[in-house]
Amino acid sequence: MVQLSASSNHHEHCHLHMNARAHACAHTSTHAQTRTHTHTHTHLTYRCATITSSIGYFTLPYLVRAGAAHVYACEWNPHAVEALRRNIVINSVADRCTVLEGDNAKVAPRNVADRVNLGLIPSSERGWPVACAALRQDKGGWMHVHDNVEVPRGVEPTDAFAERGAVIAAALQGMLQSGSGRRWSCVLRHAERVKSYAPRVYHMVFDIEARPLGGSGGAGNGPTAASGGDARVGGADVAHREGQQRA
Ligand SMILES: C[S@@+](CC[C@H](N)C(=O)[O-])C[C@H]1O[C@@H](n2cnc3c(N)ncnc32)[C@H](O)[C@@H]1O
Repeated sequence: MVQLSASSNHHEHCHLHMNARAHACAHTSTHAQTRTHTHTHTHLTYRCATITSSIGYFTLPYLVRAGAAHVYACEWNPHAVEALRRNIVINSVADRCTVLEGDNAKVAPRNVADRVNLGLIPSSERGWPVACAALRQDKGGWMHVHDNVEVPRGVEPTDAFAERGAVIAAALQGMLQSGSGRRWSCVLRHAERVKSYAPRVYHMVFDIEARPLGGSGGAGNGPTAASGGDARVGGADVAHREGQQRA
């Protein structure tokens, strides 16, 4: 059971106990779905970076429910950091979590993460270079990119989501390639519609698999590694109904 907790309020969501000044640090009402999404990452040995951690709504599920070997949690709001540290302790996972206080552009780890969570809306774009640097350079991994997507009138939401996911994958691929001098493949594997944010604007999470090509752990290392160096939508499962979850 995961415990997320706060000084004044004690919340239990998805078997997580959170003790935090949650109202000062994060909007919690719609986080259950994204945490459930986090629970589907069931690798037992992976290392994760959560570059906008807040009080730990993703950090704790990675550690307690999804078996992360280690999570590097970046956060610059001191109130959130205080609650995050408390939540890590009450969940008995302090030995597997490194809290990095400050701007993630300065404090985030480099070349360590099998998964990077970019949990910031309306856009996590400022964190994309940080996430690319945090990703393991030898074998790559997964990026979970939060983003608000506006669906123009007359456009199918699934088309808009797939298009935005492909744009993000292409941008990440370009950053990884320019940062490493090697070719990478970034493929959109899944797009999760978390909630409606405003009329025709949706909070999405794009699961993007990023692998270096040619080196150890490159193509062939992932479950569905891409060939070629083009960012693409690789048989992506694009959730299109409010509340729809992947299994
Ligand atoms: C939407 S909130 C929380 C998201 C978090 N993934 C969750 O669900 O609890 C985003 C958090 O990112 C933090 N943040 C935003 N930009 C940051 C940066 N450049 N470095 C570190 N933390 C940042 C904010 O202080 C805030 O607590």
